[in-house]
Amino acid sequence: MAKKNDLKLFRARRTIRRFTAEDVSEEDLEALLEAGSVAPSRLDRRPLHYVIIRNSDTKAKIAEALRVRPYIEEAPVVIAVCANPALSDTWEMDGSAAIENMLLAATKLGLGGAWVGSKGSALWDQTVQVMRQTMGIPANIEVVSLVCFGHPAEEKKPYEPGEKMDRYRLHYDHWDNLKL
Ligand SMILES: Cc1cc2nc3c(=O)[nH]c(=O)nc-3n(C[C@H](O)[C@H](O)[C@H](O)COP(=O)(O)O)c2cc1C
Repeated sequence: MAKKNDLKLFRARRTIRRFTAEDVSEEDLEALLEAGSVAPSRLDRRPLHYVIIRNSDTKAKIAEALRVRPYIEEAPVVIAVCANPALSDTWEMDGSAAIENMLLAATKLGLGGAWVGSKGSALWDQTVQVMRQTMGIPANIEVVSLVCFGHPAEEKKPYEPGEKMDRYRLHYDHWDNLKL
């Protein structure tokens, strides 16, 4: 069993929505993309593609469509995690696993990250249309979500050990068997 201290990185990952003007280095970007790429993928189908957005006009168009300000525009790098659904029915889950890997890698690198936008959330469909037009994302490719990365301009405390682990959500062998 992992010692509580081994979970430091996981507790330190917080959603960061304010970024300094400092750029994300190519080395750090490579590390983020590799972290995404080694995430689990059902049947190892690997349906994901990544569009790396550094262009300010593109970021502004996305921010306007999603009505999310200012962090999409502030982030030096925004990654659109995309998927080819013809390769896998679980493209959303594969994409989510990759996003979490990237967010943890960002924390390890001293960067901040924010997971932004997802199917079913307000304004997502129109945002995807804007991304198709602006970034040339083909009609047969889905967009799982966006992830903003940059150097944090806000501080968020790591979670305390056990803080988010609600005991009432833990069911041992049977739904009624709780250890409260
Ligand atoms: C599928 C998904 C979609 C999310 N979408 C957004 C979003 O559109 N905007 C945003 O600011 N945060 C978004 N988040 C981040 C959550 O708001 C955040 O994880 C939650 O408030 C807990 O905070 P923490 O990440 O610091 O633990 C999303 C998270 C997930 C898993």
